[in-house]
Amino acid sequence: VTPPKRDFLQIRGLSRDRLQELIEATLRHRALMSAAEDPEHNWDWTAAPRPLAGKIIANCFLEDSTRTRCSFEVAAQRLGATTINLTASGSSTSKGESLADTARTLAAMGVDAIVVRTAASGGAMLVADTVDCPVINAGDGRHEHPTQAILDMAVLSEWFGGIEQLVGKTVCIVGDIANSRVARSATHALTTLGADVRLVGPPTLVPPSLAHLTQRHGTVEVHHHLDAALDGADAIIMLRLQLERAAGGAVANDYRTHFGLTPHRFSNLPATTPILHPGPMNRGVEIDNTAADHATQSFVTEQVGMGVAARMAVLMNLLNPSRLSCWESLTQAVR
Ligand code: CP
Repeated sequence: VTPPKRDFLQIRGLSRDRLQELIEATLRHRALMSAAEDPEHNWDWTAAPRPLAGKIIANCFLEDSTRTRCSFEVAAQRLGATTINLTASGSSTSKGESLADTARTLAAMGVDAIVVRTAASGGAMLVADTVDCPVINAGDGRHEHPTQAILDMAVLSEWFGGIEQLVGKTVCIVGDIANSRVARSATHALTTLGADVRLVGPPTLVPPSLAHLTQRHGTVEVHHHLDAALDGADAIIMLRLQLERAAGGAVANDYRTHFGLTPHRFSNLPATTPILHPGPMNRGVEIDNTAADHATQSFVTEQVGMGVAARMAVLMNLLNPSRLSCWESLTQAVR
């Protein structure tokens, strides 16, 4: 009997165990990356096994991306897979070919997985329903960005000293929540892990109905006043004001005053509060340099590194779960 194919499309509905498994695998791959960067370890990627050798991964990015697209490519190559890269401007989607037909075309070539980013909410599910190979959602419209949530949870887990330490923590997610797939995936992940979430922004971008986004272990509150919401927060995820989506432009001018992480607001935070931002940042709009570049409290660069590890973990999990033990023993060896 052929087992059902495995996709990775959303955090919503994922069990705590599966979430934990992916976060732990991410942290193992991050440890391996750190070892490769550390001259004391006398180990580099040339010595690594190639558990996905022979696999071809199609990166189908029909909406712009720097971090997600490049980190999927780095992750696949570190694991020994080869990649093909499709973007909107250089492909037949610019001639009007549909997302489903594009996916069918790639699948017909025999690729082993499709990573898809699209402006269409639900687009990744459409692709998964269309093809027989595993599909990974790299961000679909306003719906979800599940690998971003895995990397963000890994960063927070590492900072707080373990996944279980997230239970009871309060995390502020600030910004254009209505338009944000990052916020949706992070809220599902945090509340599944037992953290409480405050969604913060102007009423136009954070409607009260978002308080009912999820009903997992943690709670979700909607806040329209940033200074009050930051009081008692254990971690802060700042989001990009999505100027390319309709709701962003309408509030851009006043945004920094009311919802930006300005030097003054940042100086009022405890020195242990981590600041995350998925990028790309609008510096001077939702976040100022003081916070974005802070040596100990900004995790923006660490998020990028963790992003490679998260995508390695997801690719391994879908394409070669039985080889995880090989990576575990290797991780032990380089510690
Ligand atoms: N965080 C994120 O999704 O960034 P990119 O759009 O650059 O991939």
